[in-house]
Amino acid sequence: MSIEIDVLNGDASWPVAKPLFEAVWPADAVAKLPWGHVEWAHADLRVLIEAPQGSQAGLACHVGIYFRHATWDGRKVQIGGIGGVSTREDCRRQGYASLALDAAIQTMRHHEAVQFALLFCEPHNFAFYQSRGWHPFTGEVYAEQKGARVRFEAMAPFVFDFSRKPRQGVIDLCGLPW
Ligand SMILES: CC(C)(COP(=O)(O)OP(=O)(O)OC[C@H]1O[C@@H](n2cnc3c(N)ncnc32)[C@H](O)[C@@H]1OP(=O)(O)O)[C@@H](O)C(=O)NCCC(=O)NCCS
Repeated sequence: MSIEIDVLNGDASWPVAKPLFEAVWPADAVAKLPWGHVEWAHADLRVLIEAPQGSQAGLACHVGIYFRHATWDGRKVQIGGIGGVSTREDCRRQGYASLALDAAIQTMRHHEAVQFALLFCEPHNFAFYQSRGWHPFTGEVYAEQKGARVRFEAMAPFVFDFSRKPRQGVIDLCGLPW
């Protein structure tokens, strides 16, 4: 049994990822959520995992990767963002998201400039990320929304350490969130 993992250009691979997004986050359900009206950045790269041939064949899991020149306490930092982490419902609890997250971190390591990774998640996923080496960032995050710089509080920020280990302070994403 072989599992295929690809890391592809974000825009070019969007048509492949879109049906999984629509299944995991149906538009009518998302509209009712606190983050339902957030304007999100588009992924620069996507980790895509295909399930092996058989009853589960097809795209099983997606992780978006973002690269962003941002600031932390006013100093320039290069952040590697993670977003759109999703596994098809019938493929969950088989290790796909863990595998895709590992692939995303490895991809970021090849971009030497990345100083830490950052993702945003809801409380029911805190334990999932913390058990995979992610740490809560307890400071403030700012991002662009509707062309203005606003405090971003729709979801909680978590950090994966590379050369920097931010836990507090002010991160300005200098653009749309992911
Ligand atoms: C959160 C989510 C991406 C996890 O995807 P997943 O592919 O099921 O994740 P994994 O299989 O790697 O890990 C999930 C759990 O299954 C367990 N698991 C992994 N492989 C397993 C296996 N072979 N047998 C049994 N359990 C297994 C893991 O230990 C993990 O449990 P833990 O969180 O208690 O450690 C998925 O539930 C999902 O798409 N949720 C909806 C969208 C969402 O909330 N996305 C996150 C946005 S931030």
